[in-house]
Amino acid sequence: HLVSSTGMLEVARANGYGVTAFNVHTLEMLQAVVDAAEEAQAPLILQTTVGTVKHLGPEYIVAAAQVAAKQASIPIALHLDHCTDYDLLVQCIRAGYTSVMIDASMHPFEENVRRTAEVVRVAKAAGVNVEAELGKVGGVEDDIIVSEEDARLADPQECVEFVERTGVPTFAPAIGTAHGIYKGEPNIAFHKLEQIYNLVQVPLVLHGGSGIPADQVRRCVALGMGKMNVATELRIAFSDAIKHIFEQNPNENDPRKYMVPAKEAVKKLALEKMQLTGCIGRA
Ligand code: 13P
Ligand code: ZN
Ligand code: NA
Repeated sequence: HLVSSTGMLEVARANGYGVTAFNVHTLEMLQAVVDAAEEAQAPLILQTTVGTVKHLGPEYIVAAAQVAAKQASIPIALHLDHCTDYDLLVQCIRAGYTSVMIDASMHPFEENVRRTAEVVRVAKAAGVNVEAELGKVGGVEDDIIVSEEDARLADPQECVEFVERTGVPTFAPAIGTAHGIYKGEPNIAFHKLEQIYNLVQVPLVLHGGSGIPADQVRRCVALGMGKMNVATELRIAFSDAIKHIFEQNPNENDPRKYMVPAKEAVKKLALEKMQLTGCIGRA
């Protein structure tokens, strides 16, 4: 069965590695990252954004993830990423998601606290993990668009107050990474991350995993990031593999053929990301 990610991430924090969380949009992407995690014997967080929930329906996603969890030997959690809609979030918990992110980072501090605390109450009763964000991660993720000027780093003292007052079990402070591929390199506030890690006891989450140079991912994990989200790079790997097939053979019409290299590309990339965060062999 699917497990809550709270315990998985607490163990990661205590042992200084990061769990990789992959955004999946199709059955084949889900299978590919499960395959990678199984081969790597790594704990796994499958995640879907609100857009994907609307695209596939929560029941289909939960059913596929449950089959994966049943067949795999590794622990698997199913997480709802960047949800701003309370009703949809509750619907996903009812359908069987074992972790949810309430993203109220676009609201003022007090409103973020209020909305997050409300979700923590509901989710805790259901044994479901909760993640919340403070500061503002830049870039584009589904309908959430944050320009470079609007992106804002989390303030360490506010992080302490936020985690205390909300009781949120996993926490995503904005430290300068962004969703999507960077123009140039991200400007990560490592010193702030270090401060936040020392001030806050719950596992920390790194958003915007695509495009961060390898050494900077390792540094984030070394300084305390216990979960890394990867979305855009997986989508690109999957789509590029399919594009390549159609370039070679424009008449290809069998998904069982063109999905094979797409799955392989996703699996390979997932293994690389697991290597970076150090979760291989930690299942
Ligand atoms: P990327 O698209 O940059 O990998 O960001 C993923 C993410 O943070 C999902 O919440
Ligand atoms: Zn994110
Ligand atoms: Na990114």
